Amino acid sequence: MRSLLFVPGDSEKKLAKGFASPADGLIVDLEDSVAPGNKAAARRIACEFIRANRPATRAAIYVRVNEIGSGELDADLSAVMAARPDGIMLPKCAAFHDVEHLSTKLRVHEAENGIADGATRIIPLITETAAAVLAAQSYRPHDRLTGMTWGAEDLSASIGARTSRDGSGAYTDVFRLARALTLLAASAADAMAIDTVFPDFRNESGFRDDCLAAERDGFIGKLAIHPAQVDVINEVFTPSPEAVERSRAVVEAFRQAGNAGVVAIEGKMYDRPHLRLAERLLARAPR
Ligand code: COA
Ligand code: MG
Repeated sequence: MRSLLFVPGDSEKKLAKGFASPADGLIVDLEDSVAPGNKAAARRIACEFIRANRPATRAAIYVRVNEIGSGELDADLSAVMAARPDGIMLPKCAAFHDVEHLSTKLRVHEAENGIADGATRIIPLITETAAAVLAAQSYRPHDRLTGMTWGAEDLSASIGARTSRDGSGAYTDVFRLARALTLLAASAADAMAIDTVFPDFRNESGFRDDCLAAERDGFIGKLAIHPAQVDVINEVFTPSPEAVERSRAVVEAFRQAGNAGVVAIEGKMYDRPHLRLAERLLARAPR
């Protein structure tokens, strides 16, 4: 999944726009983009919309519920699981045990809605509090855990930082750490690392640079908050024909060498980590 577009769950207009966008996934939001007094209306609008329009979109449908302990989560799940989403985004995930906690709840809702046991995926937001950042080492593989992502806004509020970026646009230390821990935690848990939002949605060149840096560093996709961001994400996170060609050449060289430990291609050494990287890139390549 390259692009995941957030759509506020209480806006039918934005839901319609989101469902028509080329995003690989949609995250129908019941959390931060919905006012506290509008949660019940958002559940109703979002679920009716998903049920009616699901067949018309090729995107995976995720719903961002409210956090564990918010007092809203059970009502969110009761409503949205009837709409059979592909997955749930869990905000303010404190540690791996929150994934297991949600997974247990999902089993009940799957049974009640005739959904196959374990079919609903989970993507947690793993850096939204200071304690959550420090617990990034807790994640391990889990059948529902397909992707992991991070957030800077709630973390700023958690630590009291006025900004997450310095004057040159680079993340400050705590946010670089959160971003790096997300890459490491996702790899350790065999999940997709998905980069966080870029809120300055009119700044296209800044957004493209952010996407390029994320792709370079190992993220396989990015969250979007505006439909205009989706095309840029899809473009940057689709491996180029040249990159695919290079990776095929590496895989082929190892194959021809009888699956050796090390090969030479055009005067350069390639060993097993290069093969692994080439295979990872080919897994993301268009078919
Ligand atoms: N999903 C679907 N449609 C969206 C959208 C989104 N995330 N963001 C904007 N649109 C629609 C607008 O409704 C508008 O539709 P229209 O042309 O029919 O009027 C069109 O795209 C252009 O939008 P624009 O005028 O450029 O932006 P805006 O001022 O209407 O909206 C935001 C700006 C930030 C309020 C809006 O992008 C948004 O709601 N983003 C998602 C926020 C969110 O979910 N946050 C939680 C995660 S951090
Ligand atoms: Mg938030």
